[in-house]
Amino acid sequence: MSEEGKRLAELAKRRGFFFPSASVYGGAAGFYTYGPQGASLKRNLEDAWRDRFVFREGHMELEGPDVMPEAVFEASGHLDGFDDMIVECPECGESHRADHLVEDATALEEVEALPLDEVQDLIADHDLTCPNCGTALAGEPVEQFNLMFATNIGPGSSSPGYLRPETAQGIFVEFPQLKEYARNQLPFGVAQIGKAYRNEISPRKSLIRVREFTQAELEHFVDPETDSPDLAPVEDVELTLYPASEQTDDDGEHVTMTVGEAVERGVVGNEWIAYYLGRAKTWFERIGVDMERFRYRQHLGGELAHYASECWDAEAELGGDWVEITGFGDRADYDLKKHAEHSGEDFSVFKQYDEPKVVEKPTVDPEMGYLGPEFGGTAGEIADALETLAEKNPQSFEGDEVTVELDDEAFTVPVEKTGFSVEEVKETGEHVTPQVIEPSFGVGRLVYTVVAHALERDEVDGEERTYLSLPPEMAPTTVGVFPLMDKDGLGERAHEVAADLREAGMAVTYDDSGAIGRRYRRQDEIGTPYCVTVDYDTLEDDTVTVRERDTTAQTRVPVDELSETLQELRDGDRSLDDA
Ligand code: GLY
Repeated sequence: MSEEGKRLAELAKRRGFFFPSASVYGGAAGFYTYGPQGASLKRNLEDAWRDRFVFREGHMELEGPDVMPEAVFEASGHLDGFDDMIVECPECGESHRADHLVEDATALEEVEALPLDEVQDLIADHDLTCPNCGTALAGEPVEQFNLMFATNIGPGSSSPGYLRPETAQGIFVEFPQLKEYARNQLPFGVAQIGKAYRNEISPRKSLIRVREFTQAELEHFVDPETDSPDLAPVEDVELTLYPASEQTDDDGEHVTMTVGEAVERGVVGNEWIAYYLGRAKTWFERIGVDMERFRYRQHLGGELAHYASECWDAEAELGGDWVEITGFGDRADYDLKKHAEHSGEDFSVFKQYDEPKVVEKPTVDPEMGYLGPEFGGTAGEIADALETLAEKNPQSFEGDEVTVELDDEAFTVPVEKTGFSVEEVKETGEHVTPQVIEPSFGVGRLVYTVVAHALERDEVDGEERTYLSLPPEMAPTTVGVFPLMDKDGLGERAHEVAADLREAGMAVTYDDSGAIGRRYRRQDEIGTPYCVTVDYDTLEDDTVTVRERDTTAQTRVPVDELSETLQELRDGDRSLDDA
């Protein structure tokens, strides 16, 4: 683990951000508990996400179940294709993620994009051994392993279910209902914040690779023919990009350009993705991701998920590694088409034309008096096949005979018996299967990144200090309230001050234990942006000391202006100097 990772794990457990779950029983790898500070920070982050990607975009939000029936994942392709590469140690039996073993031992990146046999060869070529017992892994088969957790719904095994591996499917399966709520008008977006589960082969790096995690996903349904985003609010946002072409070039490097330039130069192919890269960049800054340790990286061809045609990841540098914190995918109409095929329901939107259009419609009216005696029990299916052929390929009816195939058997019918004609009909609209643009945020990874990027060290009064330079909006506690000492009525007055600030809607911690310097350090380590001290002057003039975390600067503020001043400081509308 990196030095940063170790410091973070220690602080996160000691101060109640996050730690491995159920450790009294030895725990289970890949499951984490958010302590009081972490749960609060995570909630602040989710609120900020909702504010930006639901409310301000005018999207809807839903909450679906974590367990879904097998049919959902048969249709989505997860049952067949949601795999990672596994290699098992012949000696100790421990399984490892084959691509990660190769990446850890070589300079190669994105090894999951390579075919299985190439990864098997790389393991042999680099003499890789089992990280658990040191046995050579050369020659061991590299295989696919499905990452979904399976369960049974109800008693018995007749109704298999799965813990959802992404929240997205809970949105897609409800599309026939959701389009009604959107009054059949594209584009519209539906968001969901919730748990997802992946039976990772090797959970690692704290919250970065876990088996149960929170996603904040947005599925934006658009008409690929006519809808395009308004890029004006984001076109000047500057992006640090690592396109696929730079990754495959030996001298490749990050390139910096605005959203507008990225679209104009075709670096980002999909305008909707470009829009969200811009929106998200500003949001990442807002929640405290260090932009010196941030980039957008395009997926390489072999790395794309089975449903995606273009994808960019937001990546944060953590302990020397680049880690995906958000994916921006173009899922096209893959999921909706699959669910339509498998369920037989309508996953399209009926798009009304401004004016009805007169269109030529090829149609058939087969003579059943001919087809029946000629083809017997197959006559009905042949009639249906003729109708489909007329719609798809009316030119087939140009000769004297037309042939349709049913189960590899060809049936030839004289065209005059098909009743083929081309009619002019008025159409009031058409069915469109929307394209889906998906920004998908890993909330736990964001919590980890925000804490890691906020972790600072400096010296105060000759002593080393650790503090979390969190944006006030993210901080689990906004204000620490201390009495200088718990006597002479200072404690009672400080309790009153704390109660008033809580009434004003602030997250407040009251602390009267230990020297005042130690109380400041405790709040610094959990990222509390302001501390308020009630002292003997308070009893005289009803003012308190307000101390700011990063600068440790202090000023006196009248108690009756305190909540307003703190709110203005928190919202960035005022600085401590003004106060
Ligand atoms: N929905 C995208 C993902 O889970 O990666």
